[in-house]
Amino acid sequence: MYQATSVTELHQYVQHWKDHGQSIAFVPTMGNLHNGHISLLEKGQSLCDRSICSIFVNPMQFGPNEDWDHYPRTLEADLEKLEAVGCDLVYLPSASELYPEGLDKISHVLVTDLSDNYEGAHRPGHFTGVATVVLKLFNIVKPDVSVFGKKDYQQYRVVSKMVEDFNLEVQIIGQETTREASGLATSSRNQYLDARQLETAPIIYQQLQQTARAIEQGERDFKTLEDAAVARLNDAGFDTNYFVICNAETLLPATADDRDLVVLVTAAMGPTRLLDNIEISLW
Ligand code: PAF
Repeated sequence: MYQATSVTELHQYVQHWKDHGQSIAFVPTMGNLHNGHISLLEKGQSLCDRSICSIFVNPMQFGPNEDWDHYPRTLEADLEKLEAVGCDLVYLPSASELYPEGLDKISHVLVTDLSDNYEGAHRPGHFTGVATVVLKLFNIVKPDVSVFGKKDYQQYRVVSKMVEDFNLEVQIIGQETTREASGLATSSRNQYLDARQLETAPIIYQQLQQTARAIEQGERDFKTLEDAAVARLNDAGFDTNYFVICNAETLLPATADDRDLVVLVTAAMGPTRLLDNIEISLW
């Protein structure tokens, strides 16, 4: 596996592959890789000749009260996992490479509407940080395909909308969420759960499935379904930030006529916020 820390180095590899007509799949990450990230790489590899992964803990997407300093950095283990999956190149930019004049001096990308609610409301500026770094990375790597996990469904939609709005020539693929045997969505945050919390956490996905079943069976009183779900999660010991039934594309509250829905949930166990979702197709 090749490693590049500068744009110049990266371009040498990318240009060589492009000159040989090879297509490129790209998976941007913040490291601390787990099976979910590896499934994104594997998806990209199934679609393209070459795979590139970036590891960059992007300061722009962290709020003032969020712990950028303490975000887990596990480079050695990450590199081993990327080698094992056959990743062709890992890009490891520094903050000074991506933000040479600092965070305040760089243009910001605001993906309107989709950035404001849910995670965006809880973490103001978060999706602007994500969209800005992803646009930069796309322009540096110039991939044909980029794979995003649907576990972070709102992020997947924000990035897809940015690609549409700016006519970017990259195809965004949404990869299904990887789950533990218990049904719990695989996440770097799961490492912060203790044994008792790990036993309770799968209730989130069980609740999503129950709500999806009710909708598939014809229930359209979304407010009642949402309230019942929040009550059950809170009874189980979660602090539910939101449990919302949305249009899968716009993420606006679903209407009875919508056919493609997604239910988004974030529920905290102690200090750990767990995100999950389920898509529902009513065609
Ligand atoms: O999902 C992530 O790990 C990050 O938000 C991303 C897409 C790598 C941008 O920093």
